[in-house]
Amino acid sequence: MSEAVIAQTAPYEMELEPGTYYWCACGRSKDQPRCDGSHAGTGFEPLAFKVDKPGKVWLCGCRRTKTPPFCDGAHQSLKEGA
Ligand code: FES
Repeated sequence: MSEAVIAQTAPYEMELEPGTYYWCACGRSKDQPRCDGSHAGTGFEPLAFKVDKPGKVWLCGCRRTKTPPFCDGAHQSLKEGA
């Protein structure tokens, strides 16, 4: 399995309603941060997560978070290393 693509070096701030969502784990989706099926053949699978109440979330854009699908600040080290 190759490394996930860095879609962006910032989180995706989103207002979500209760429901189940599929976060793109491979970084290849054209509909970031949602899975669009572009992971086919990469060995990656989308990560399903549930939202219980409406509210704001910050989803990882760099795919280096240790708490997927949520941002943990890992993108900061990518920016510093760039
Ligand atoms: Fe990235 Fe599906 S497109 S996990």
